[in-house]
Amino acid sequence: MSFQYDMSDFSEVLVSENAIGRKLDEMAAEIRADYADKDLLLVGVLKGAVMVMADLARRMPPAVQMDWMAVSSYGSGTKSSGVVRILKDLDADLTGRHVLIVEDIIDTGVTLSWLTGNLRSRGAASVEVAALLRKPAAAVVDVPVKYLGFDIPNQFVVGYGLDFAEDYRTLPFVAVLKPEVYGDK
Ligand code: IMP
Ligand code: MG
Repeated sequence: MSFQYDMSDFSEVLVSENAIGRKLDEMAAEIRADYADKDLLLVGVLKGAVMVMADLARRMPPAVQMDWMAVSSYGSGTKSSGVVRILKDLDADLTGRHVLIVEDIIDTGVTLSWLTGNLRSRGAASVEVAALLRKPAAAVVDVPVKYLGFDIPNQFVVGYGLDFAEDYRTLPFVAVLKPEVYGDK
């Protein structure tokens, strides 16, 4: 990436652009093998999963479809509210479909636990989860993740789709935001 970022808001780059690309190669190979004889619907969770969905989907055959949901479990700050609301629902009918939820990060697990249950109740043939990042130390609910990128420490991270108050989503890497940037919001 030729663009120069101002790195002063970050204490550390946790996952580089190259590391993300290599990991997505591995995850995509597994997914392609597992769903070789099935029709696959990728369900991205807006807005955080936009980058991982775009990069994962481009490693899939053209019969693989994408759909999107927007749910909210967070306000503009850094703490989970534990409350999940549907802000935008899927267009697709899930009856008989093989669904793979594509997520940016599993923090408490509250969002994904609720979402997998919700999508299963719509008659999907299968519902699995692919997530780029997971914070094991923050888990409140256990969510089975079939395809995982990286386990990371329990720190607030931004970039590659992840935001703080809607900023930093465009970064091509995942970085730890300095606590003084988000304060005690
Ligand atoms: P959970 O329900 O606590 O697992 O939270 C899931 C959602 O919270 C993710 O999809 C993110 O949108 C957001 N989130 C959790 N941790 C972080 C973080 O470190 N940085 C930015 N967003 C986060
Ligand atoms: Mg998210």
